[in-house]
Amino acid sequence: MATIGLFYGTDTGNTERVAKDMKVKLEAVLGEGSVHLSEIYKKKAADMEAFEYLILGMPTWYDGELQGDWEEFIPEMEKIDFAGKKVAFFGLGDQYGYASYFCDALGVFCEIAEKKNAKVVGFTPVAGFEHDFSKAQRGDIFVGLCLDTDNQDEQTEDRLNHWVPQVLGEMGLK
Ligand SMILES: Cc1cc2nc3c(=O)[nH]c(=O)nc-3n(C[C@H](O)[C@H](O)[C@H](O)COP(=O)(O)O)c2cc1C
Repeated sequence: MATIGLFYGTDTGNTERVAKDMKVKLEAVLGEGSVHLSEIYKKKAADMEAFEYLILGMPTWYDGELQGDWEEFIPEMEKIDFAGKKVAFFGLGDQYGYASYFCDALGVFCEIAEKKNAKVVGFTPVAGFEHDFSKAQRGDIFVGLCLDTDNQDEQTEDRLNHWVPQVLGEMGLK
């Protein structure tokens, strides 16, 4: 079985593209077949429960709302005991168009995972972003990797290249 479960939700494909790139980068380190990539659409708690290491990717929509498939997954997420699991989040958003809600979904899901005993890894500095407010922010860090492919897509690759080894290190996989 794959080592990491990489789940994403997407409305217009940006998070899917990043998730596919991330899988390639993770497997370059861990080996082919080590990452199980799947869309969160219609998934059940058992699909996620199967993995000790999880990476969850989600955009934020409509002034701080969750992407629809992730919103539907919340009752399933609440059923999972994340004790012993290491979880990392990445989120896509638009820091200028939705400056008061930048990548909010990340903060919402991080709180649920922590409440259910997850060890959340992969926090990143807020430096380099110009948003006003984000539920994903705690002091000067985000609770995962925020990406803005709408405005700063030229930085996406670099941000991934920094984050992937960080997460693997914090998960104890490298
Ligand atoms: C109508 C609309 C509402 C949005 N609302 C937010 C928001 O509240 N916060 C945010 O950070 N980004 C927001 N965005 C930006 C999207 O999250 C961003 O385009 C993201 O890359 C979409 O990812 P997806 O293609 O995987 O669905 C919004 C975009 C649109 C078009």
